Amino acid sequence: MSLQIPDTLIERLKEAQRVCIITGAGISAESGVPTFRGKDGLWRQYRAEELATPQAFARDPKLVWEWYNWRRSLIYPLKPNPAHEAVTAMDSHYPDFLLITQNVDGLHRKAGTRRMVEVHGNIWRVRCTREGTISERIQQDLGELPPVCEKCGAILRPDVVWFGESLPLEALNRSIGFVSACDLMIVIGTSAVVYPVAGFPWTAKQKGATVIEINAEQTPITEIADYSMIGKAGEIMPLLVKGLSRK
Ligand code: OAD
Repeated sequence: MSLQIPDTLIERLKEAQRVCIITGAGISAESGVPTFRGKDGLWRQYRAEELATPQAFARDPKLVWEWYNWRRSLIYPLKPNPAHEAVTAMDSHYPDFLLITQNVDGLHRKAGTRRMVEVHGNIWRVRCTREGTISERIQQDLGELPPVCEKCGAILRPDVVWFGESLPLEALNRSIGFVSACDLMIVIGTSAVVYPVAGFPWTAKQKGATVIEINAEQTPITEIADYSMIGKAGEIMPLLVKGLSRK
């Protein structure tokens, strides 16, 4: 099946001034990062919702860390794919731009995107559960689990947002401000079931923005999207960038 990008969609991309991109695990799938839901979403017998919670961590920090350590070692050698690169190209193209990513894998950063908010944190950072101090640990394996704070000896946790926790206020405010003011939004590779990010396309749409969805399948966003492109982000995103630079 060859992909057809409607001319009207390319026109909208060319006219847009303030562009917001929202990404989820699907944008990293072609780099080799497992998504959370769907057939590859399970780790041992657990679902993400059972591990990514403060309760799970309080009950069994070692188990939760084993999952994060497994994810770290998987992601560590992986590279951004053409979809991440296309996002970076759009960051360079538009005067006003913001990427809001739910991903913690750091691949957008590796691809060189600059104007972005990592609303669910970053898997390469750890936070002291006592002092709240945040530091980077860019290595695949953290050794003995759970890791502890060098200064105070308390258990470290991944610096990510868990179910039941609030998003960092600054990241949330910056995101909501931009979502409400953008004129075009591209929603890529998210199942759109985890709030508040799942609600952002609705807000943008209500404020009059064009909403474009790129996903391997239909999601709750599909019904409000002006354009729904079903397929692989790594194939579709480069076509949008190509269309944008076409005279
Ligand atoms: P999900 O795993 O829920 O959804 C991934 C989406 O990507 C699905 O809708 C797939 O159809 C789509 N997809 C898969 N491969 C794709 C490809 N090559 N191109 C385009 N789309 C593709 O991941 P998220 O929506 O990111 O939160 O999940 C949201 C949050 O739930 C995550 O940030 C994480 C998770 O639990 C926390 O850990 C707090």
